[in-house]
Amino acid sequence: MLTKEMQNEILRLKKENDICILVHAYQSHDIWEVADYVGDSYGLSLQAARAPQKTILMCGVRFMAETVKILSPEKKVLLSNSQAGCAMADQLDVARLNELKNEYPDHTVVAYINTTSELKTACDVCVTSSSAPKIVKNIENDKILFVPDCNLGAWIAAKVPEKKFQFIDGGCPVHARITKDAVAEAKALHPEALLLVHPESLPEVTAQADYAGSTTGIMDFAKSSDAKEFIIGTESSIVQHLQFDCPDKKFYPLSKNCVCNDMRLTTLGDVYNCVKGTAGEEIELSEYVMKEARRCIDTMIELGK
Ligand code: 13P
Ligand code: SF4
Repeated sequence: MLTKEMQNEILRLKKENDICILVHAYQSHDIWEVADYVGDSYGLSLQAARAPQKTILMCGVRFMAETVKILSPEKKVLLSNSQAGCAMADQLDVARLNELKNEYPDHTVVAYINTTSELKTACDVCVTSSSAPKIVKNIENDKILFVPDCNLGAWIAAKVPEKKFQFIDGGCPVHARITKDAVAEAKALHPEALLLVHPESLPEVTAQADYAGSTTGIMDFAKSSDAKEFIIGTESSIVQHLQFDCPDKKFYPLSKNCVCNDMRLTTLGDVYNCVKGTAGEEIELSEYVMKEARRCIDTMIELGK
């Protein structure tokens, strides 16, 4: 079967079977082309609650599918590939978080959305990279325990200097592979290019960026900018998507090592099998997790308005 033929079958089957396909921006372009919605973590979580279809297929990683299920409990939610996790989400469990809460009892616990839904049951609010500064500003308490990504946390702290932050030693191992030497090399090779990075990158990398923001933020910036060349400091799939969106501009990966194997797991074939009903993991969460993690996610949506 040719790519186009498989895509046409997916489009036909998703309609026939009343399936909404949500796609994170790091998925491959052939998957983007069959999506009902493509976006960053924040956009996906808002879209999940709005989708009219009975089944939602989440093409991304596990914590994203769990967020969709929590926001749409009455729907059937499928994760496109059951092996697709997030190395950062697995860094912190509830037992360790409870120890931290005992250490910092008067702090509001803010979790990056890249955490398990079980962890969210023990947090006050979660944030995404695109919503974090606004949400943290809207929290009444000026003491914040931010978990698990200390790099994203440092970026938020710089934008919300009126709050005091406690961090732990966590973060995205994929973005942590981007070194400041890579920035120097890329800038030397492409002196006219603007540097756009995801704030999961190390602070010494983010500090040199012309723009730092979520995957959608990076793409919107590149599309609306008058500049013609860009160095992209996030998962390298974004380089290809931007090249399709802006064929007259040039995009270079900041590091060829910035590849998330979990995000790359889902193939168009997986999507095809999911809409046929022969693949995909149905997300099931306990009543307790559905209720308590929802409180954390709803607070994010409320404070993000
Ligand atoms: P976004 O919220 O920017 O989509 O980021 C999700 C993610 O996993 C980045 O590594
Ligand atoms: Fe998780 Fe990092 Fe992959 Fe994003 S890029 S899904 S944070 S491991």
